[in-house]
Amino acid sequence: MLRKKLFLFLFTAVFFSCAQSKDPVEKKIDELLSRMTLQEKIGQMNQLTGTGLSGDMISQIKSGKVGSILNELDIKTTNELQRVAVKESRLGIPVVFARDVIHGFKTIFPIPLGQAATWNPQLVESGARVAALEATAAGIRWTFAPMIDIARDPRWGRIAESCGEDPYLTSQMGVAMIKGFQGEKLSDPTSMAACAKHFAGYGATESGKDYNTTWIPEVQLRDVYLPPFKAAVDAGVSSFMCSFNDINGVPSSGNEFLNRQVLRKEWNYSGLLVSDWASIEQMIKHGVCTDLSAATQKAIKAGVDMDMMSYAYINHAEALVKSGSLAEKQIDEAVRNILRMKFRLGLFENPYIEEPTEMPYYSVDALLKAKQTAIESTILLKNENNLLPLTDAVKSVAVLGPLSDAPADQLGTWCFDAESSHSVTPLAAIKTMLGSSAQVIAEKGLTYSRDMNAEGIARAVDAAKKAEVILLFVGEEAVLSGEAHCRADICLPGAQPELITALKKTGKPIVMVVMAGRPLTIGKQLEEANAVLYAFHGGTMAGPALADLIFGKAVPSGKLPVTLPRMAGQIPIYYSHKMTGRPAENIVTINNIPVGAGQTSLGNTSYHLDAGDSPLFPFGFGLSYTTFKYSDVKVSKNILSLGQTINVSCTITNTGKYDGAEVAQLYTRDVVGSLARPVRELKGFQKINLKAGEAATVNFTLTPDQLSFWNADMVKLTEPGDFQVWISADSQCGKPGTFKFI
Ligand code: BGC
Repeated sequence: MLRKKLFLFLFTAVFFSCAQSKDPVEKKIDELLSRMTLQEKIGQMNQLTGTGLSGDMISQIKSGKVGSILNELDIKTTNELQRVAVKESRLGIPVVFARDVIHGFKTIFPIPLGQAATWNPQLVESGARVAALEATAAGIRWTFAPMIDIARDPRWGRIAESCGEDPYLTSQMGVAMIKGFQGEKLSDPTSMAACAKHFAGYGATESGKDYNTTWIPEVQLRDVYLPPFKAAVDAGVSSFMCSFNDINGVPSSGNEFLNRQVLRKEWNYSGLLVSDWASIEQMIKHGVCTDLSAATQKAIKAGVDMDMMSYAYINHAEALVKSGSLAEKQIDEAVRNILRMKFRLGLFENPYIEEPTEMPYYSVDALLKAKQTAIESTILLKNENNLLPLTDAVKSVAVLGPLSDAPADQLGTWCFDAESSHSVTPLAAIKTMLGSSAQVIAEKGLTYSRDMNAEGIARAVDAAKKAEVILLFVGEEAVLSGEAHCRADICLPGAQPELITALKKTGKPIVMVVMAGRPLTIGKQLEEANAVLYAFHGGTMAGPALADLIFGKAVPSGKLPVTLPRMAGQIPIYYSHKMTGRPAENIVTINNIPVGAGQTSLGNTSYHLDAGDSPLFPFGFGLSYTTFKYSDVKVSKNILSLGQTINVSCTITNTGKYDGAEVAQLYTRDVVGSLARPVRELKGFQKINLKAGEAATVNFTLTPDQLSFWNADMVKLTEPGDFQVWISADSQCGKPGTFKFI
């Protein structure tokens, strides 16, 4: 009897303490879930694209068959659909409205690859905040961004949407975007749930062709592709999206290892996981499921909570549960994750959008931030005889090239809500800036980037002859990058190379600005031009940003977030490669091979006969109008052990004539590992402003954990041994300091 009472007492105590400690949101979910029918639960797992106020959509919402709608933009429609959900469906669960807001909603910021080139997370965060302010005013509370796929293949069109090749830089940028989108509190009406996508390995797509298969060893997956996603979880990202690709034969929408083992078990993620567009259905085309029912079963078993546009769950999940092929527990888990996001967004309290009297688009603040981001995203690659910045002494410029006045193309890919009428092009900005102080002679030469019609080239040459300096805007149209827009050859398209060669013959100095969605192979043009700015697609304010840079109102500070190859055949090319057993030395290029040379006479080391072993420009590279000197690199101790930290510092002096900003980059190398280790890995960076002549010390702290990697037994550890450490201006320069980890 006493034992029984004791048990009852303990049971009651444990029960009440659990109930009390339970998060209020979890309690609300429990309560709601207990009232939901199986059909209503499955309805929450269904995401459909907007069809306005169609009868079909309204009746589906009424019967609780829609959890989320994407791409619905009309506020009145959105509010009416929400009213139906809240007032006319049995349980009144609100719908969450979603949209791809990737690098701005109305005010367009540089493409994410350009944003990464700023190496300025605060600025990137402020851009995402602007995007959230604008998009939430139109009723969007969930964006499918940031895309944090590691991209080491510029043929892949989606490299434009990525933050480039490096896990650390991508993590920093991804976290900044998440913070900006989600704001201080997710329930604030100006906050949007962010989405870490595409989980995972999408950037490893074979041959840079979109949706292609990937082969990624687990060590590489964990060391390279997963860290930005882990950082997103740690930053409190609300949702994840599966990628389209298969990894080692397993499509992500059916990948239990990724979605359950890694994401839920190892990382303890409690947010929502949505499929990509029809990616559940596509498991049939992948050849891993016979039909949509099998695909439904696979995706739910793999932990995919919401089905975007496969109509799989809504049509097959109920039967699968009823036949015992799926446990209702798995459905409950998915619905919990979905409801959790809706509660956190405050949708139950505030389901409707307040229609603003004036839409908060293109505010002065937004445009200034977009301009500053475009300035900082531009990389100075070459500046022969300090041609840039141009001075007041220049009294005439020829503004040429297909991107000089291309308002839609400068916005870049993935900005469906952008209005090119708001774009300020380089031509417009240069005219405004120069006013009557200098003559602007405009002539595109080619009407668009792929234009093969060389007729206009003669006109461009004539224009150039009349001016003192040529300002040439080349690159790619927006449509040449982005989803499914991949290229096998990543040269300047159309007759642009001919245009530059013809202009070179005029003998006039050429400032070439490249506006593109990816790294392009511009080796020949780099030689022909006297100064080169790599600007990516800079968004609404690309023109004013470039005008400021060209005329010295701003000083370039962008650094490459991705390696620029010399030739497409070097791809994949990235700075953190392995040393190999025969690192390149004594390179003999194809034109220097003596006729009749023997097989072994060329050194037998790792390089291409035609491209050598170096990129055109390495990751992290970027010049300024001023110069920076790195000195006094100090490592605080020789020996680092567990539980300790080590400080690495150096002095950076602005040795030039301009005030400027420099990105100091911290790299390490694990000299001997149980597995071959990369030649360098980025571990930190700081962007510092220095006035001409000013010096500052930058300090970095390294922990043993930052030196860890996944070994062949899939254990993450820091191995004892020698390490090298650099603070340098890019991923190739500088002298290393050393220390030992014991
Ligand atoms: C893309 C996603 C995007 C989704 C919704 C898909 O084609 O891969 O990145 O979020 O469409 O528009």
